[in-house]
Amino acid sequence: MGPVGLSGDGDVLAVPPGGPLRGELRVPGDKSISHRALLLAALADGVSSISGLSDGADVAATAAAVRALGAATEPAGGHLQVRGGELRAPPGPIDVGNSGTTIRLLAGIAAGCPFTTVLGGDASVNRRPMGRVTEPLRLMGAEVDGVEGGRRAPLRITGGELHGICWQPPVASAQVKGAVLLAGLFADGETVVREPVPTRAHTEEMLAAFGADVRAAGGEVAVRASRPAPFDLAVPGDPSAAAFWIVGAAIVPGSEVTVLDTYHGQARDGYLRVLQRMGADVTATPTGDRRVRLTCRAGPLRGVTVAASEIADLIDEIPVLAVAAATADGPTRFEGAGELRHKESDRLRSVLAGLATLGAPAEVEGDTLVVHGGARLRAGPLDAAGDHRIAMAFCIGALAAAGEETIISGWRSVATSYPGFVEDLARCRES
Ligand code: S3P
Repeated sequence: MGPVGLSGDGDVLAVPPGGPLRGELRVPGDKSISHRALLLAALADGVSSISGLSDGADVAATAAAVRALGAATEPAGGHLQVRGGELRAPPGPIDVGNSGTTIRLLAGIAAGCPFTTVLGGDASVNRRPMGRVTEPLRLMGAEVDGVEGGRRAPLRITGGELHGICWQPPVASAQVKGAVLLAGLFADGETVVREPVPTRAHTEEMLAAFGADVRAAGGEVAVRASRPAPFDLAVPGDPSAAAFWIVGAAIVPGSEVTVLDTYHGQARDGYLRVLQRMGADVTATPTGDRRVRLTCRAGPLRGVTVAASEIADLIDEIPVLAVAAATADGPTRFEGAGELRHKESDRLRSVLAGLATLGAPAEVEGDTLVVHGGARLRAGPLDAAGDHRIAMAFCIGALAAAGEETIISGWRSVATSYPGFVEDLARCRES
């Protein structure tokens, strides 16, 4: 087995097959929590201190955005101090890069601010659906312009006098819930979000922890005009990053990997339940408030059905679960997975393309992804389609593939969420 190697200006990764994954890892700070920590610190009147922030480009885009809006950030011995409280008009358009979470959550805050904010991103972000946030924000009283009447970015938002609404999003989305709740912090009266199925709960959990006026019960989250107080936060590891190592440990013979200190909570642990149903030897040991240590050992997997009602619980883990499913005995069905078409790439298409290259039969029937299973993965040239999770999921597949090295192009996209992925992979292969 040769070393894992980057070439082509860091945009091409060569992954030789073979070799178990072993050892203990820490993954980057949770991306969803990191974005919200920066945004809430910008709203809090005083200095907040955050440690363990994600080191990915998406979270860096949120940090730059809060600075453009007037918050001051300063690194201080492993922490980032953020002085917030008084937001002001940004000096120019805010570029969110590849980050859908940044643009959607920031749209909620911009809707509450009495000035104009222009928000845009890279080609992928500017293709993604924005009507799901701009529609409720307009109903609350914000002025919103944008491409296709505000259904795509760049968006131009003039905030002001908002009033609360009761919003039932047509699609399950934590970003939409977050945008409406953040706008609700600036609105007269109560703002309520009624979710079709529960999505990740970071916005309401963090608003509650930092003293804003929020309540969550029975599938409903409600906020009233208020602000978070300044806070100290240690961000736990990202379960969506941990998922790559957990699946890698499950499918590469002889592996045993432990991932220390990851977040564990609503709509973030569904992938563990699916892997357990598939027969994986994976355990989650509680280590503190909504934190776990994960351990997984290699073993045979069987195909399962993932119901549409479970999709929001593992939306970001489907690419790597599809790789696990390719090696399982029997078919795995991901039902109601149409939302994957609207991620950093069209993930139904990119998963099918990647599996085809690795020699794993799969198809899409309507909104159901069917992975036939029983594949003996083989090496081949893969394209990440500019999508960090596709790049990492198929790197994990390549570790279990027979033959030559797998060459993944578009590897640079991994910087979005996990710049140290290759170093962590090298560490697991050496242990
Ligand atoms: C996120 C919500 C999810 C997820 C994304 C992060 C969040 O998106 O896919 O990676 O932090 O709120 P949707 O809300 O579009 O499902």
